[in-house]
Amino acid sequence: MGRGETRILGIETSCDETAASVVENGRFIRSNVVASQAAEHAVYGGIYPEVASRIHVEAIYSVVSEALETAHAGLEAIDAIAVTRGPGLAGSLVVGMNMAKGLALAANLPILGINHLEAHLYSIWLVEDEPEPEFPLLALIVSGGHTELVLMEDHLKYKRLGGTLDDAAGEAFDKVARLLGLAYPGGPAVQEAAEKGDPKAFKFPRAWLEGTWDFSFSGLKTAVLREVRERQPELKAGVEAPRPGLPIADISAAFQAAVVEVLVVKTLEAAKDHNAKEILVAGGVSANMPLRDAFEAQSKLPVRMPPLELCTDNAAMTAAVGHRRFGAGQRDALDMDVLPSWPLDEKPS
Ligand code: KG4
Ligand code: ZN
Repeated sequence: MGRGETRILGIETSCDETAASVVENGRFIRSNVVASQAAEHAVYGGIYPEVASRIHVEAIYSVVSEALETAHAGLEAIDAIAVTRGPGLAGSLVVGMNMAKGLALAANLPILGINHLEAHLYSIWLVEDEPEPEFPLLALIVSGGHTELVLMEDHLKYKRLGGTLDDAAGEAFDKVARLLGLAYPGGPAVQEAAEKGDPKAFKFPRAWLEGTWDFSFSGLKTAVLREVRERQPELKAGVEAPRPGLPIADISAAFQAAVVEVLVVKTLEAAKDHNAKEILVAGGVSANMPLRDAFEAQSKLPVRMPPLELCTDNAAMTAAVGHRRFGAGQRDALDMDVLPSWPLDEKPS
């Protein structure tokens, strides 16, 4: 390693992916291992927290070993360990945290607790061949757990402008998928079904919540439920039953169009209002192709979106934040707790 270079081992277990990664200088991915539990949770049509932590326990050791092996790095070649501290499922976070603490203790390495929302933002810095984005950035974080508009004034400096008052955008995709009998995770399934549908077939509501930078998707979800119930009054939520006669493609397309329109319009307005130089869109839902296309088509400002494989949960983005925070002097205590609900712009106490 040359002078001034750092290698960070990232560990992420906030939800249903067990992930580890080695990143150099916050930008160069040397390994990025993600073991997804989606298949196990598909049986339930959603995440089962207890099952998630058990699978994390089974997977974590081999995932971390593989990340180190692929990067051709032993722990002696690592400068610090960055681990997701929150927000996320408590039982899942604890598994990654304990692994990180064990390694830090054994190898006498510094440990840094990382905010998962901040990690999603830093997935953008892992795109090596593009110039770094310019501040101030207007960021939209859209995932299974969050829908947040954030003004990023500089590295590690955020002002939260607003967020969802009820369901997160990804959660809405997952719930609608369940109603339509589509597989978990719902986002990719709804996107695929929508390809053959007409987005104008249904007029679903858009909650603009004018005068705020907040979002709400529960009315939209209820409108979808109403359409489904009208055709299948016996319906119970679940993934089991095939639904003959249900216009799955049209409902998917109209639902997706409603989500995309609100996300894009409000983000562009917020960017204009705050004189942002660029827009950043990250989190699992940023993998949605119609959302990406709409941002590209409608924004006058440059829009940064992670490559598809870095949109959903991974540990490379955790390591990328670790690099920044390590450089800024952060070192956490070995007895730190996980923070299952940790807002992006709050310092942990
Ligand atoms: O960021 P992420 O992997 O986990 C959280 O931090 O929540 O996001 C997962 C969410 C799920 O709700 C999933 O349905 C959604 O991202 N998602 C998508 C797509 N791919 C994943 N939503 C819409 N379209 C997609 N292509
Ligand atoms: Zn996430």
